[in-house]
Amino acid sequence: MAGRGATEYLYFLLLSSVIGCYASSGSLSSGVKFITVFLQNYDTSAALSLHIISYQRPATVSVSVSMPEFSRSVFVNANSTAVLTLDSSFMLSGNEISKKAIRVVSNENISLIILNGRSKTYDSFLSLPFHILGTKYYVVTYTVDSPYNIKQFAIANGNERVVVTLRVAGSLIFNGTQYFDKEEFSFRMEPNQAIQFQSNQDLTGTKVKSTGPVAVFSGDQCITVPPSNCDHIAEQLYPVDMWSDRFIVFPLMMKVKEDLITIVSAYNGTAVSIRTSKGSWSRLLGEGSHMNFNVSGGTYVNSTQPIMVTYLSTGGSMPMVSSFDPFLVNVIPRAYFSSHYVFVTIENMHNYILLVSPGTSPSGIILDGRPLSDYRSENSTFSHYTATRIYLGETGSRHVVHHPSTHFAIYIYGIGRAESYGYPMGNKQFFTNEGDWGALTCLTQAAIFTLPTWALTRAALSTSDVHLVDPTCHAEPKDEDWVFIRAPFDGCGTTIVNETGKIVYVNTIYGTAPRTPIHRLKIKLMCEMSTTENITLGFVPHSNYVLHQGHYNISFTLHNSPSFDSPVFDFPYKTALNRTLYLEMEADTNDSGVQIFTENCISVPALSQNHLRYTIIENGCPKDSTFKYFLSHDPRKERFSFHVFKFEGHSQVFIVCEVVICHRTSSPNRCTQGCLPSRSRRGLNTWVPRGEPSRLAQGPLVFPSNLEGLRLTMNSEKGVRNYYVPAVALLSVGCVMSVLAVILQRKYYLHLSQGHSAPK
Ligand SMILES: *[C@@H]1O[C@H](CO)[C@@H](O)[C@H](O)[C@H]1NC(C)=O
Ligand SMILES: *[C@@H]1O[C@H](CO)[C@@H](O)[C@H](O)[C@H]1NC(C)=O
Ligand SMILES: *[C@@H]1O[C@H](CO)[C@@H](O)[C@H](O)[C@H]1NC(C)=O
Ligand SMILES: *[C@@H]1O[C@H](CO)[C@@H](O)[C@H](O)[C@H]1NC(C)=O
Ligand SMILES: *[C@@H]1O[C@H](CO)[C@@H](O)[C@H](O)[C@H]1NC(C)=O
Ligand SMILES: *[C@@H]1O[C@H](CO)[C@@H](O)[C@H](O)[C@H]1NC(C)=O
Ligand SMILES: *[C@@H]1O[C@H](CO)[C@@H](O)[C@H](O)[C@H]1NC(C)=O
Ligand SMILES: *[C@@H]1O[C@H](CO)[C@@H](O)[C@H](O)[C@H]1NC(C)=O
Ligand SMILES: *[C@@H]1O[C@H](CO)[C@@H](O)[C@H](O)[C@H]1NC(C)=O
Ligand SMILES: *[C@@H]1O[C@H](CO)[C@@H](O)[C@H](O)[C@H]1NC(C)=O
Ligand SMILES: *[C@@H]1O[C@H](CO)[C@@H](O)[C@H](O)[C@H]1NC(C)=O
Ligand SMILES: *[C@@H]1O[C@H](CO)[C@@H](O)[C@H](O)[C@H]1NC(C)=O
Repeated sequence: MAGRGATEYLYFLLLSSVIGCYASSGSLSSGVKFITVFLQNYDTSAALSLHIISYQRPATVSVSVSMPEFSRSVFVNANSTAVLTLDSSFMLSGNEISKKAIRVVSNENISLIILNGRSKTYDSFLSLPFHILGTKYYVVTYTVDSPYNIKQFAIANGNERVVVTLRVAGSLIFNGTQYFDKEEFSFRMEPNQAIQFQSNQDLTGTKVKSTGPVAVFSGDQCITVPPSNCDHIAEQLYPVDMWSDRFIVFPLMMKVKEDLITIVSAYNGTAVSIRTSKGSWSRLLGEGSHMNFNVSGGTYVNSTQPIMVTYLSTGGSMPMVSSFDPFLVNVIPRAYFSSHYVFVTIENMHNYILLVSPGTSPSGIILDGRPLSDYRSENSTFSHYTATRIYLGETGSRHVVHHPSTHFAIYIYGIGRAESYGYPMGNKQFFTNEGDWGALTCLTQAAIFTLPTWALTRAALSTSDVHLVDPTCHAEPKDEDWVFIRAPFDGCGTTIVNETGKIVYVNTIYGTAPRTPIHRLKIKLMCEMSTTENITLGFVPHSNYVLHQGHYNISFTLHNSPSFDSPVFDFPYKTALNRTLYLEMEADTNDSGVQIFTENCISVPALSQNHLRYTIIENGCPKDSTFKYFLSHDPRKERFSFHVFKFEGHSQVFIVCEVVICHRTSSPNRCTQGCLPSRSRRGLNTWVPRGEPSRLAQGPLVFPSNLEGLRLTMNSEKGVRNYYVPAVALLSVGCVMSVLAVILQRKYYLHLSQGHSAPK
């Protein structure tokens, strides 16, 4: 899968196509295949324009419809946009069962914005790529102030034949038969069919279920919210398995007439909480039920189970356009915030972008090459999020907005005299350490992955359906909200990827539908051990929000005899100057393929100084004349000895070493190379130990006398930083020898996809 940068080790792809293709999924706003429709507009002479956005590579995009027959290939240069317009003969009409599904297939990733309209009845939506379409939806339509207008939704099938089951809310007509509230009926949909359903009743809550992924679009043929005239609104719906449980909403325009959000639940007993600066509200929603809420300022919405939130701009008046019309957009869940978007604005509209970003300012976000502070903007902050609105003028153009790391959502919209359009953009989902969606922890001997119970619920899986490559290794409940699965590095199908110089343990979590070969969940886990680390008294790993930290338990044991069978644990270790020290480095892992190699060791009388040093090992080559290697039959252990010495005028000795960890599958490697005297890289001779006694100082410890050993183990199951194990052995002539602690840093790869089963 394509990486986003060398330091980004963590990918979370929630959205998946069929099993086996998970790597090509992950984006909510771009893809290579789309299926869309031209919903009936109030103005039946309206046109449909497809705005195609290309990215780094030029794209050849084919657009086709079965009936009326249409086929066109559009070439889009790299980093550009193209527009293809379809006339009103492709518009769905009434309760039509048609072959008017519009297929868009590209050889490269593109984004597709659909604009339906002609003067005064525009709306637009972001076409959701085929790979994230689902099999369960709930329709949303609006009756606000216009109870008799026509509400509608449409289903398009881009697959092979599927069976669709509708459970009606309100009333609708299919193939000449009228169905009433709560009635359920099924029908077959052939490939490339598009069916539109209309009603003068509110259809919100109508459930669409199908045996394969379909696309569902909903809205009103026309909605009238005074003072505006009849206006078309449309949006492509998120399938239930894309729903989420945390949303932050800000008003898109500053105006008197409040906009409203609609919250839809797919599960009984969904507790929805809404918080604004004016107070908090809670409501319990049942399956298929919904609630509306006026948005007068920043609004935080969360729920105990995934919900869908749509936003209706009710129109209004602005000096520059007098009055403008309503439009409908999805609210982008917090989980789909991303750091990079390309979008288009529409010619002859007053275009705006609203950015919703975490924190109290959108600092660092770059719009068309300039920081947001270069633009005239309005902003507001609520609940740790900031909304920034920027006017983008009246031209139809391509824009790029990005931030190196912060994830945000954007809403693009425009108003004109008695018209408007709007669409949102969110994108790939990422794991964060916050554990929003699940988290990977790489331990010394195993990886542990936790995921929220509702992620299983919505995939209709139980805990025991979740397993590793070895199907006998199952997930287990952790508590009410979380389940976990443990992938030991030496079992459950864990394999070691052979990358030179790296040890990567790989396993995959599957959520398998009971008694089928169908995977509804697929999460690839990778724990990468970095293979070379400094042994020092402290370790402050570099970390950012995608990089987890972990380590092996590595022990450094002092023995008092060359048989290495008598580790000594007590302090201080009293020994005569010029006696022999027997040292053993050991990687504490059950993986017998792991090899350990001490590349550099120096000794210093104090960690805070760097002028006095003595080299024991450099580039794997012994430098001390008394140094002796001992053969170890276990590559996870390394043994050597040298004679005790002291620095003139100093009573302590610290040893600082750099060890390399390898795996035999990547042989030849640094561990098998041994001494490399000519290596040009700097050895410890020229570097300053990273120890920072003031920060790390818990020692030197004072130990009871007469004891002869030293054993230190650095460890933590949780990837502790700033870990420090001081140890001091008192050498006879007043020498204090303080030794080491080892932390090996691990980088974690995480790769998760979740989605639909493969058609068999
Ligand atoms: C499209 O993007 C996805 C990542 O979002 C990538 O895995 C895939 O290879 C891309 N497809 C093409 C044709 O470039
Ligand atoms: C497209 O844009 C990207 C990023 O701005 C740039 O690196 C790339 O060179 C551009 N490609 C072309 C063909 O202009
Ligand atoms: C609609 O009804 C007709 C006749 O009852 C039937 O032949 C046809 O298959 C139906 N269409 C669909 C899509 O179910
Ligand atoms: C919500 O806003 C509409 C106007 O958009 C207004 O008519 C209605 O009274 C508001 N409802 C509440 C509860 O404030
Ligand atoms: C939700 O509750 C209703 C009424 O209590 C019940 O008829 C329905 O089957 C429940 N739905 C689910 C999915 O449990
Ligand atoms: C929703 O957010 C409120 C704080 O605004 C919090 O107290 C509550 O626990 C959250 N509920 C859920 C289900 O996350
Ligand atoms: C946001 O608004 C505040 C006050 O209204 C202003 O001080 C600040 O500069 C604004 N930030 C941006 C990025 O426009
Ligand atoms: C690492 O060492 C600590 C302390 O000795 C021990 O509690 C822990 O179980 C060890 N971890 C493993 C995986 O061996
Ligand atoms: C060990 O520390 C030195 C000095 O800080 C640094 O140059 C070197 O890259 C470190 N080695 C590793 C493997 O981090
Ligand atoms: C140190 O030990 C070596 C070998 O064991 C011996 O030759 C040497 O004389 C000793 N030096 C002192 C100062 O004891
Ligand atoms: C390592 O292997 C030993 C013996 O084979 C076993 O007792 C121990 O539990 C294993 N450790 C882990 C973490 O799997
Ligand atoms: C592992 O990779 C190394 C270097 O790329 C190669 O020489 C070796 O044959 C590989 N081992 C296996 C088992 O694939």
